Amino acid sequence: MKLAVFGNPIEHSLSPSIHTLFAQQTGVQIEYNKILAPVNAFAETTQDFIAQGGKGFNITVPFKVDAFNLATKHSINAQTAGAVNTIKVDGNTLIGENTDGIGLLNDLTKNLGIDLQNKIVLILGAGGATRGILLPLLQQRPAQVMIANRTASKATQLAKDFESYGETCGFGLEKIKDGPVDIIINATSASLEKQMPNITAGVANNAICYDLMYGKQTPFMDWAQNNNASMVVDGLGMLVEQAASAFEFWTGKQPKTQTVIEAIRALND
Ligand code: ATR
Repeated sequence: MKLAVFGNPIEHSLSPSIHTLFAQQTGVQIEYNKILAPVNAFAETTQDFIAQGGKGFNITVPFKVDAFNLATKHSINAQTAGAVNTIKVDGNTLIGENTDGIGLLNDLTKNLGIDLQNKIVLILGAGGATRGILLPLLQQRPAQVMIANRTASKATQLAKDFESYGETCGFGLEKIKDGPVDIIINATSASLEKQMPNITAGVANNAICYDLMYGKQTPFMDWAQNNNASMVVDGLGMLVEQAASAFEFWTGKQPKTQTVIEAIRALND
């Protein structure tokens, strides 16, 4: 099965290593390549791949919205996220899926043993990453999902967009109080610039702190450790879990993730 991941940049993607391990484990024959798409030619680059027999692909930064527009059919997760990270080629139909949210959820529940029901969740950031995880999170019936963002209006809008799926509210970062909060998820892109959103330290007290970024000790993880968080986690488990959902979507085989998470962490250290 001819598979790939498209992005720009793409050189550092761990996806080929992850999918190769899944393929070995499940006995499926795959060829999975990294493809650098020019920023203004995502659709053309994917069409070439499909013409050469490509059966499925992942999409990473900055093409997830382009991939949504390319897909001719969308799952409910893709629809609510407004973004697509996985496409399956089914004849002339390009089925768009978004496995980011389910990847986060599987990491939290299966790997870390965290039950979200009746919990208070605080998400930092109100961009594409937050939109991608909201539906699967709300489906776990947390007591409340609070969305806090530097630009408050984006948080209030997002909370409104998802209010029919559960208890949501949105506000500016400066309105965050000292808890109690059960889980804090950093979905801002601040870690990329080695920054930490400016929020009150007290909110981390006894909270599980999860950064969607992976592989490095991020400023958010430092902050959480210094402020008495009960658990501090990066997004590597989510990365492997979103890949596992994509692999199952393409091949019908569900890979086991635990050993793959360990192998990828060792590779990335
Ligand atoms: P992504 O797709 O990764 O979510 P995005 O849509 O550009 O990327 O959103 C980035 C998010 O990180 C936004 O919520 C942004 O806040 P603004 O909406 O106010 O721009 C947030 N963000 C980026 N850098 C930040 C920083 N240094 N402190 C706090 N929030 C930051």
